[in-house]
Amino acid sequence: MEALGLFASPAEAATDFAPPRAADLPDAVRARGTKVVILGAGTAGLAAAYELAKAGYDCTVLEARDRPGGRAKSIRRGDQLTDTDGVTQTCRFDEGLYFNAGPARIPNHHVTLDYCRELGVAIEALVNANAESLYYHENAGATDYGELASTPVSHRQAKADVYGYISELLAQAADQGALDTVLSTDDAERLIELANSLGGLTGGKYTGSSRRGYVDAPGAGHDAGVVGTPPSMSAILQSRFGTRFSFEFGFDQAMMMWQPVGGMDRISSALAAAVGGKRRITYNAPVTQITNLTDGVRVSYRLNGRTRTIDADYCIATIPPMVLKSIPTNFAQATKDALAVPTGANTGKIGLQYGRRWWEEDDKIFGGITATNMDISGIWYPSSGFLGRKGVVVGYYSGSYTDLPVADREKRAVDQGVKIHGAKYRDELETSFSVAWPKEPYSLGGWVNWPGGRGVAYDHLLRPDGRTYFAGDHLSYLIAWQAGAFESARQVVTVLHERVAATAA
Ligand code: FAD
Ligand code: ALA
Repeated sequence: MEALGLFASPAEAATDFAPPRAADLPDAVRARGTKVVILGAGTAGLAAAYELAKAGYDCTVLEARDRPGGRAKSIRRGDQLTDTDGVTQTCRFDEGLYFNAGPARIPNHHVTLDYCRELGVAIEALVNANAESLYYHENAGATDYGELASTPVSHRQAKADVYGYISELLAQAADQGALDTVLSTDDAERLIELANSLGGLTGGKYTGSSRRGYVDAPGAGHDAGVVGTPPSMSAILQSRFGTRFSFEFGFDQAMMMWQPVGGMDRISSALAAAVGGKRRITYNAPVTQITNLTDGVRVSYRLNGRTRTIDADYCIATIPPMVLKSIPTNFAQATKDALAVPTGANTGKIGLQYGRRWWEEDDKIFGGITATNMDISGIWYPSSGFLGRKGVVVGYYSGSYTDLPVADREKRAVDQGVKIHGAKYRDELETSFSVAWPKEPYSLGGWVNWPGGRGVAYDHLLRPDGRTYFAGDHLSYLIAWQAGAFESARQVVTVLHERVAATAA
C-alpha cells in the first residue's frame, strides 16, 4: 500500500523536511567549505548543527552554560544553579533520582520523537492522565465549590459523576422531546443509547456505579465490595471538576505522552554527541557581541576570563530573545526592535524528593498529575522508577513562586500538598530543588509571549539580519515545546542551505 501511495511512510507522515545534502552545493563551495557559528546549544542550536553537519558544514556551537540542552534541563544530584539574584542552589537528590525542570512530556506527533528514534534515545510513557490522580478545589474569593470544596476526589470518581449526570440530563431531554427541533426521532434514540453508555445510567438515571470506585473494595467469597453513593448533581456541578477534563482533549496533551528514559536532557546529550561533542561545542562561553560583516559574521565570547572572537560565513542565533536583545550587535534597528518585543513567560517547578513512594504505596497513584486551583497548580507523580523506594514529585508548576526565597517556595508548596495528601507530604520530604525560569540568566523566561500575537516582529525575525539567522521555539507555532525548536532549526537550516547552494562559485 505504501508503494502504491495509499498511505504515507512514517518519515513522510512526520515531516516534509529534507536534510541538507553536500550534493546540493556547487563543487567550489563544497570544496572551500562553509563555516557556521551557532549561538546556543539548546534544542534549536544542536538540531541546526546536527542537520548542517549532514551536508558537511563546518559548525561551531557556543554555549554559555556548562552543558547542552538549554531549557531542556533535568536536575540531578550535584547540579548547581545560580539565579539572577545570585542565589545558588545545589541539588541534594539521591544518586539516580531527577526531575525535568523544563520540558517533561512529548506527544506522539511531535518531531521530537523522530529525533529520539534517529539518535537512539529510549523513551517511556509519561503518564499525563491517570484515573487515580486527584482534583482538589478550595473556595477562593467569590467562588464557592460547594460540599466538595477542599476534598481530594479522584479523576476516576469525578469522571463517572460528571459524565453520569450530564448523560442523565441528555437522556431526559431527548426522551421528553426537548431536542425534537434539532434531532430526528431516530437520532434522539441514538442519543439516549449514547447517554446510557457514557453515563452508566440505570433506567435513565445516574445513581453511581463501580466506575467511580469503591468505598469498600471487592474481595474473595461473598465480598462484592461497596460502591459509594455519588454526591448530588448540584454538588458535582458546583465542584467544577468537569472543567478540568478538557486538558487531556488538547492536541498536544492527550495520552499517549512520552519522556526519554533517564531525563529529558538525554535528547540534547545525544544530539551533542552526534555533532561531535566538545570538538564542536564550546561550553561556558557566553556570547558578548555579534557583528555582521559584509561577507560573514564575527562573534565575541568569554571563555576562561578572556574575550575571544570567531569568524564564520553564517551565524544562527538561538539565544532566547529576552537575552539576545541585550547583547551588543550591529543588527538593523528593526531587528533590535523585534528582539525587544517578546517577553519571558513566568513559570517554574519544584522537585520534592521523598524517602518513600507513598503516592504508590498508600494512594495507588502511579504517575499522572493532580490538579488544583491552589497556586501550585498541580502535583506530578514520577512516571519512572515505579515500585522503587524513593522518588521525586513535582510539587508545583507555576509562576507564583518565582519571587519567593528558595526555602519559602518549598514551604508554600508543601503546605498546599499537605491539604491534598496529609502530613506525610511534609513529614516524609527529604530535600527539594526549585527552578524559576525568569531568573535563569541564560533563559530569562520559560518561553516567550508575543504581546498582541505574532506580528511584524515575529515576521521580521523569521528572516536573517545580514548573515545572522534566528531560530528557537519562539519562532514557531509550537512555543513551549521542543518540537518548536526542532522545526524552527529545520526551517533555518533549509533556507541557509538554499542560500549557500545559490552562492556563486
Ligand atoms: P533554549 O533551550 O533556551 O536554548 C538556548 C540556548 O542558548 C541555551 O542553551 C542557553 O544557555 C544559550 N544561551 C543563552 N544566552 C547565551 C549567550 N549569551 N551565549 C551563548 N549561549 C547562550 N517542551 C516540550 O517538548 N515538552 C514539555 O513538556 C515542555 N515543558 C516545558 C516546561 C517548562 C517549565 C519550560 C521552561 C519549557 C518547556 N518546554 C517543553 C519547552 C522547551 O523547553 C523549549 O521549547 C526548548 O527547550 C527550546 O529550545 P531552544 O533551543 O529554542 O531554546
Ligand atoms: N508545553 C509545556 C507543557 O506541556 C507548556 O508543560
